[in-house]
Amino acid sequence: MTLAGKHVIVTAGPTHEPIDPVRVIANRSSGKQGFAIAGAAAKSGARVTLIAGPVCLDTPPGVTRVNVETALQMDSAVESALPADCAILVAAVADWRVVPSPAKLKKADGPPDLQFLLNPDILAGLSASPRRPRLLIGFAAETDNVLSNAVAKRAAKGCDWIVANDVSGGTEKSVMGGDRNRVALVSADGVEDWPELSKDEVALRLVKRIAAILG
Ligand code: CTP
Repeated sequence: MTLAGKHVIVTAGPTHEPIDPVRVIANRSSGKQGFAIAGAAAKSGARVTLIAGPVCLDTPPGVTRVNVETALQMDSAVESALPADCAILVAAVADWRVVPSPAKLKKADGPPDLQFLLNPDILAGLSASPRRPRLLIGFAAETDNVLSNAVAKRAAKGCDWIVANDVSGGTEKSVMGGDRNRVALVSADGVEDWPELSKDEVALRLVKRIAAILG
């Protein structure tokens, strides 16, 4: 089973939300899992559009990469990449942004009074869109109640599958930045626990499952 003739969109990495010209709100996502999925989908014959937040990773062979910085940019890059047969939203999108100061904030002025604004939920928006890809897959990074949160997230966001992973490891030996991942696939059929695998193996397994649906 291959993905020849299919268009797959992947989002990966963090988003950076500027506070001023030198500071951003960021998160620890390395982008490795999303890049591995984009590479595996391309190897399987798909046309792949990888929408990447700021990460230091090489573009996998055969993948078209669109670099973005903010959640708003990622949202419009996904919209521009449609239509697609499948979208896999792996990015750790910042839930909040602030209106950035045009000039660098000065320490002497005291702690900044940041006003947070809600970012669009790219996954939920795509799910509700008339251009929804046939297969829509989200990721859920959780530290507590991983499976019940992932099941609830799948329902709330209206996607077909959620790949749930436990990111409670803190900063050391963490999923975020590491090369291994232990995930569960949450679908309408229930929860399937996968063993701990390399991120490349998780990607390959996921792409095989996608090909079995779309192929
Ligand atoms: N996601 C998205 N747009 C956002 C936030 C999240 O598309 N603004 C997507 C992620 O790419 C992922 C899924 O939604 O596929 C779940 O992301 P996660 O950060 O786990 O969930 P949140 O909706 O942000 O919920 P919370 O942070 O409260 O757990």
